[in-house]
Amino acid sequence: MFAQRGIPQPQMRMPAQYVIAIASGKGGVGKTTVAVNIAVALAQSGAKVGLLDADIYGPNTPMMLGANAYKPAAVNGRLPPARVHGIELFSMGFIVRPEQAIIWRGPMLDKAIRQFLTDVAWGELDYLLIDMPPGTGDAQLTVSQAFTLTGAVIVTLPQAVSQADARRGLEGFRQMEVPILGIIENMSYLLLPDGGKLDVFGQGGGRALAEAVGAPFLGEIPLDPQVPTASDGGTPVVVSHPDSAVARAFRALAEAIAAKAAEQGATGQNFIPITEI
Ligand SMILES: Nc1ncnc2c1ncn2[C@@H]1O[C@H](COP(=O)(O)OP(=O)(O)O)[C@@H](O)[C@H]1O
Ligand SMILES: [Mg+2]
Repeated sequence: MFAQRGIPQPQMRMPAQYVIAIASGKGGVGKTTVAVNIAVALAQSGAKVGLLDADIYGPNTPMMLGANAYKPAAVNGRLPPARVHGIELFSMGFIVRPEQAIIWRGPMLDKAIRQFLTDVAWGELDYLLIDMPPGTGDAQLTVSQAFTLTGAVIVTLPQAVSQADARRGLEGFRQMEVPILGIIENMSYLLLPDGGKLDVFGQGGGRALAEAVGAPFLGEIPLDPQVPTASDGGTPVVVSHPDSAVARAFRALAEAIAAKAAEQGATGQNFIPITEI
């Protein structure tokens, strides 16, 4: 990807005022769960929201949002996003069968990710959230270079090993001069029936990471068995159990992210200056 430096790239107009990548250093920490629930929570508060599933190797958003059956048909050469739970969704899962293993190299991946903007008929959005694949590879480079990102939100678990992974992901964005809107700690604790909290994956990792890297700590999300059940059934927990503690945590985080994005300023009408790519 770095080999492309200096070669003019197509200018990409962002379909949203705020374009926010949801990322971490590795898989399984709840990026997609966070992206889906925050997207729907923002829409519940009245915003126009799109979710772009950039995890082209393992697209999970169609299942989590009940859009597995959606097959986009081009209208005037562009593909309409799915409309689910009040948001617009586009995922490579709509185009490639889930059981098809995709092994894409840099340039193909780069092109596919750019087409998520150029070839998808997004509406005029307030927020476009991007569910990032795990790691710090080509997809991260393309999204950071080709998109005008408002910033990145980093998801981590309370335990130390997850902090190290999250930190690598975070530093990757910083190297690309993408602002870090903040850090979310997922699966922070299990709420017990007696009202107590059980720290399943250790304690305080998200806050510690935020302090270590000088980024805002946005908040904690409890571990809740309703989350996977809701996801597998295609209805995010903010819709299926809106009064649960975990849904309240997602709504509070959606507000915190919106506030941090507003601090950065809208990017919607910006174009990427070719000289900076
Ligand atoms: N707060 C939570 N409570 C319980 N389970 C969760 C929570 N967050 C995520 N999960 C579960 O953890 C697994 C990994 O989450 P996922 O969002 O797919 O992670 P990633 O996108 O980082 O790979 C999924 O089975 C998901 O349902
Ligand atoms: Mg994921």
